Amino acid sequence: MKSVLFAANWKLNKGPRQTSEYLAEFRTLIPQERQGQIVFFPPATNLESAAKAIQGTGFRFGSQNCHTSASGAFTGEISAAVVKEMGGQLILLGHSERRQIFGETDELIAQKGRLVQELGLMPMICIGETLEERETGKTSAVCEGQLKSFMSAIDVHRPWIVAYEPVWAIGTGKVATVEQVQETHTAIKEFITRSSGVPSISILYGGSVKPDNAKELLQIKSVNGFLVGGASLEAKSFSQICLS
Ligand code: PGA
Repeated sequence: MKSVLFAANWKLNKGPRQTSEYLAEFRTLIPQERQGQIVFFPPATNLESAAKAIQGTGFRFGSQNCHTSASGAFTGEISAAVVKEMGGQLILLGHSERRQIFGETDELIAQKGRLVQELGLMPMICIGETLEERETGKTSAVCEGQLKSFMSAIDVHRPWIVAYEPVWAIGTGKVATVEQVQETHTAIKEFITRSSGVPSISILYGGSVKPDNAKELLQIKSVNGFLVGGASLEAKSFSQICLS
């Protein structure tokens, strides 16, 4: 059986009360033995509420971003060390919204990845091409470029995970086809093995995953689960995806 992980990226949605209510409902929908396969990325302001609400379950949580330093004079930033202190285990890095809206570069994301691993947390690095890049045949080159700088900064032999999210499929309702996902995931896995010797790394797919397309996508051999935005905001729809 392949290893699977289902991650909920809530982006800038929900407050602490909604986080508690959601997780109180969600924990009743997922059997204990499946809970270790699920991770939540709520807004940083709700991490404490998430930590409390998942006590006694197998769910994990983390933040959607962090700073390159664990502490210091960095007004408004998120410390991965504090996320760890709160019980977080993963940090999402390099989401396309961080890259496009906040101008994060591959280099900056790589520095964050290094710190996250040094703290004993697991980075989840998001990669993916824009529509123009796909249409001009640059998908592999873009994904490899994003991975290359990340892999040169982290220890590839310690835990890390990749989320392939074609930018054109995020929040658009346009999901990549089975062929596109299969081809790109396989190319990413081969690139990682070729360039680092790491035999197998988990790759999640993200981009308009919904309860009605999750089953088909999960059947693709090289898909190890999903990073879900919109459809993770409702406990019922996310639970359906996790149980596909
Ligand atoms: P979506 O978002 O599921 O709403 O397309 C995915 C993501 O941004 O991680």
